[in-house]
Amino acid sequence: MLERFNRLNYSKGMRLTDTLEKAFNDQLTLELTASHVYRQLAIELDLLDLSGMAEWMRAQAAEEVDHANLFIAHLDNRDNRPQIGAVPAPEVKVTSALDAFRIALEHEEKVSASIRALRKLADEEGDLDSRPLLDSFVTEQIEEEDTVRTIIGRLEIVGEDGSGILRIDRELGGREQQ
Ligand SMILES: [Fe+2]
Repeated sequence: MLERFNRLNYSKGMRLTDTLEKAFNDQLTLELTASHVYRQLAIELDLLDLSGMAEWMRAQAAEEVDHANLFIAHLDNRDNRPQIGAVPAPEVKVTSALDAFRIALEHEEKVSASIRALRKLADEEGDLDSRPLLDSFVTEQIEEEDTVRTIIGRLEIVGEDGSGILRIDRELGGREQQ
């Protein structure tokens, strides 16, 4: 009986299935893609002289690299093979702060959908060990989307008002408490 258990389960060790390993690699590549999108948005905002917002985007870019690293560590810890995929060039067209944050939200929604799909796949594959990590990402995405939606809401309130935009810029640059 024990021998059978060993053969069926224990011999697989802690590894993720090949299907799940591929999905994890796709996810970490998507996190790195998000990082590039945020970096490009930071550039666009700097070009608009909104340096506080640019700083906020750069901090987000760094956070996305942290996310990718968590997936890499999980694969590594479970004796799988992390593999970075192709990260496409970020295509963003920004003429206002509102554009930049709408693009950020669009991307976060894409990441959220991908995390949900990954969480469902983990269940289909019977993978219990990735649950805590994936559940923490589900929660993280709710926070990320809420934060960006709040900024969009405030930018919509101030509209074309330059002093309002500059005030939000200062706040996001961390130079003033919100
Ligand atoms: Fe992320």
